[in-house]
Amino acid sequence: MQIFRTKTMTHEDFSESGLRRCLTAFDLTLLGIGAIIGTGIFVLTGIAAATQSGPAVIVSFVIAGFACAFAALAYAELASSIGGCGSAYGYSYAAFGELAAWIIGWDLILEYGISVSAVANGWSGYFNNALSAMGWPLPYSLSHAPELGGYINLPAAAIVLVLMFLLTIGVKQSARLNSVMVFIKLLTIAVFVAVAAFNVNPANWDPFMPYGWFNHNADGKPVGVLAGASIVFFAYVGFDAVSTAGEEAHNPRRDLPIGIIASLSICTVIYILVAGLLTGLVPYTELNVSSPVAHALQLLGFNWASALVATGVIAGLTTVMLVLYYGLTRIIFAMSRDGLISPAFSEVNRKTQTPVRVIVLCGVLMAAVAGLVPLGQLAELVNIGTLAAFVLVCLGVIVLRITEPDLHRPFKTPINPVFPTLGVLFCGALMAFLPATTWYRFIVWLLIGFVVYFSYSIRHSRLACEEPSG
Ligand code: ALA
Repeated sequence: MQIFRTKTMTHEDFSESGLRRCLTAFDLTLLGIGAIIGTGIFVLTGIAAATQSGPAVIVSFVIAGFACAFAALAYAELASSIGGCGSAYGYSYAAFGELAAWIIGWDLILEYGISVSAVANGWSGYFNNALSAMGWPLPYSLSHAPELGGYINLPAAAIVLVLMFLLTIGVKQSARLNSVMVFIKLLTIAVFVAVAAFNVNPANWDPFMPYGWFNHNADGKPVGVLAGASIVFFAYVGFDAVSTAGEEAHNPRRDLPIGIIASLSICTVIYILVAGLLTGLVPYTELNVSSPVAHALQLLGFNWASALVATGVIAGLTTVMLVLYYGLTRIIFAMSRDGLISPAFSEVNRKTQTPVRVIVLCGVLMAAVAGLVPLGQLAELVNIGTLAAFVLVCLGVIVLRITEPDLHRPFKTPINPVFPTLGVLFCGALMAFLPATTWYRFIVWLLIGFVVYFSYSIRHSRLACEEPSG
């Protein structure tokens, strides 16, 4: 059944979207944890501690956590009252209209698409290590992108294609696999915490803040606890993906806020614990490696725990990719249904009740990028894109309380407009601490978006076609 956009659409407007409503509050919380815990805690914590924050990386996590908490409350309010699977795209549509919605949708495509390819690269590194440990190392040329002297990063491309297959089969099946892997990664973290708790050396926490709050290093790159916060922010990215399940949740008005807030709260506690313990285990200067959590355990002689953590990371990164990939396809699906991109992408396969075409197209593109491009710095782009979406969602709460005072809001952000305003300020500040090159890339991506909008979307938009022009 065709859904026509009006500006503010509720969950009831999407009751016949063709997607299957099968996800519970528990599934949604696990979906959130699946997307959140990954490269950020397993890799970036160590790098940020060694190069930007020192042991005060724990403070960086608290600051980034505050920014996310305010944004999560705003997401929870809008997810409970506005329907659809477009997440910040749909909310911006309601609050600011089509152009802002397009910009944020375009921004989310960057955020989710690049995250999946970037995390696939990290996954491939761990997978290759595991293969080597078993005596079956892949040749260099098949595990590295051309720019790094190889032909293709085959495992990175392959894992994206495997997830593509899984997502086309059905959302319940994907959620089930996600749950299993989330338990594996939580177990891994529990093992780390149990081992680390008895081996902390408080001397490692001194000096606590070697790089200060905010400075520049010899290369002109921002360092300090605040710059660290804008990097470890990546660790929290993903709770917003819960809101892309708006059309597949049993009871979205109640369960989306639960999924968003519960998953973020659980992960925040875990992050603060892990960051504190990790920097207490070994001197922070030792942590600038690709697997700091496993590395710290190895330095202390816990080889079995180190191997277990590496296994957990492989499972953990798989769920991050799975959920962000899922979110990406639902956002493109929503934008296509509104006519902003080709309608070919909003067809739902009757048998699987999933948007197969968009899943396959995204999968092939992301597999190619993951296999052929080394994506190191592009991860910073994910942060700027996500923070921009968070700022707009917080502003959206303030605007909609004024323009749509009677909208049914089963969940309300407390102390409006103070909390959403703090969300805007915190997220805006974290954007300001990101390197200039990240800003340039982000602006180029947005400019491309403007070109697409004014050359295609503006003429094909459903809202534009439906509304009388005079
Ligand atoms: N939060 C996700 C991660 O850390 C994106 O990998």
